[in-house]
Amino acid sequence: MRDRFAIPGRTALVTGSSRGLGWAIARGLAESGAHVVINSRDAGACAERAAELEAAGHQASAAAFDAADFDAAKAAVAEIAGRRDGLDVLVNNAGMVHRQPLLEWSDADWLRMMDVNLNACFVLAREAARGMVDRGWGRIINVGSVLSFVARPTIPGYVATKHGLAGLTKALATEFGPKGVTANAICPGYFATELNVALKNDAAFNALVTSRTPVGRWGEPDELAGLAIYLASNDAAYMNGAIIPIDGGIVAAMY
Ligand SMILES: NC(=O)c1ccc[n+]([C@@H]2O[C@H](COP(=O)([O-])OP(=O)(O)OC[C@H]3O[C@@H](n4cnc5c(N)ncnc54)[C@H](OP(=O)(O)O)[C@@H]3O)[C@@H](O)[C@H]2O)c1
Repeated sequence: MRDRFAIPGRTALVTGSSRGLGWAIARGLAESGAHVVINSRDAGACAERAAELEAAGHQASAAAFDAADFDAAKAAVAEIAGRRDGLDVLVNNAGMVHRQPLLEWSDADWLRMMDVNLNACFVLAREAARGMVDRGWGRIINVGSVLSFVARPTIPGYVATKHGLAGLTKALATEFGPKGVTANAICPGYFATELNVALKNDAAFNALVTSRTPVGRWGEPDELAGLAIYLASNDAAYMNGAIIPIDGGIVAAMY
């Protein structure tokens, strides 16, 4: 039986994979045969997660750095590519949210959001793509959001960066598609992780999510893994520049 989702021998860096959606994606890629590099700003958490995957019989290592420290990000991509004989898959997943009425956002709030959620993704994609283009094969997977399509109040920086990430994905796709390197965006709806603990604990917001999401519930992080594995696989060679909601149908619904 052919396993279309097997990605043995590939090396994948998943930013922000010590917990939440990144961890689910990292685990899925590792279970499908990739060597997964776990990243976050917490070296201990990265090492623990990598050890957990190895203990389960998968291949993993750790690279702790702040994605928005661009020198550190560049050095990490070079180190991984050198150590692993190339970086094949980049998942730009690390992200943050900042919630405050727009008029109270400081310049610093806005700029930090740009650096973490968008500028870091550009720098990492550019650095990873150099080797991918040389080898004629690569997969860049950006983690956007339903807020890559629509907006909500109090999160202008998040909305702007996630829309920007959709644009960056298309730019990468058009530039690198001819070189065998694809770029696509996974755009999750509402998944209960540390990022949105405040929303999950807010009864009114919780009711809004469950009533507005056609499947009637929050997502489980593991429900993202299959799409990430597919996008990282050989079978996804013709999938390029796609901005894909995985959201229980929330952006498809009028109410
Ligand atoms: N959860 C949702 O419902 C949802 C919906 C749509 C989109 N998303 C997107 O999915 C991605 C993951 O979200 P999540 O819910 O899994 O978040 P999370 O539970 O808060 O996890 C974020 C991960 O990123 C790491 N991280 C944060 N800032 C970082 C930085 N500057 N450099 C490196 N690592 C960093 C965190 O570890 P450290 O803090 O230790 O560094 C952690 O591993 C984000 O891009 C988010 O915008 C999430």
